[in-house]
Amino acid sequence: MCKNALTEEKFRELDSYVDTLPEKHGMLISVLHRAQGIFGYLPKEVQLHVARSLNLTAAKVYGVVSFYSYFTEEPRGDHIINVCTGTACFVRGAEGILKELENHLGIKSGQTTPDGRFTIDALRCVGACGLAPVIMVDGKVYGRVKTGEVTGIVKEYAEV
Ligand code: FES
Repeated sequence: MCKNALTEEKFRELDSYVDTLPEKHGMLISVLHRAQGIFGYLPKEVQLHVARSLNLTAAKVYGVVSFYSYFTEEPRGDHIINVCTGTACFVRGAEGILKELENHLGIKSGQTTPDGRFTIDALRCVGACGLAPVIMVDGKVYGRVKTGEVTGIVKEYAEV
């Protein structure tokens, strides 16, 4: 079954979590974190379910989901590739690295490959400016990356 499927089981898991909360008021962000952990993303169906569970409006839930960049309404890939496009990385060629990555995977920043393996996200400074230009794959930092190394880095994760 597709890992992004919205199964009854996942909804039940989320309900069990909500049931453990002593107080539902003020718990929206915690519940959304848990929901994204279970489903991998927060499509409309999940947002509506959360709204019903916490007696909130769908607009309130959507407002929070769209405000925080951590939350996503789109399914994410198995591997998240972050390309830093902050100033230090930008002046050292981050744009070329991002382009190479986009060409290699056939998607744009913010998108996920059709096979669900990779998501590319551009970030503003990941706090490793001394290593610019920097990319991160699943949180692992690659510094002083050259355009020609991009394909090799992706390959490390292709079968994992
Ligand atoms: S600008 Fe890229 S790590 Fe700071």
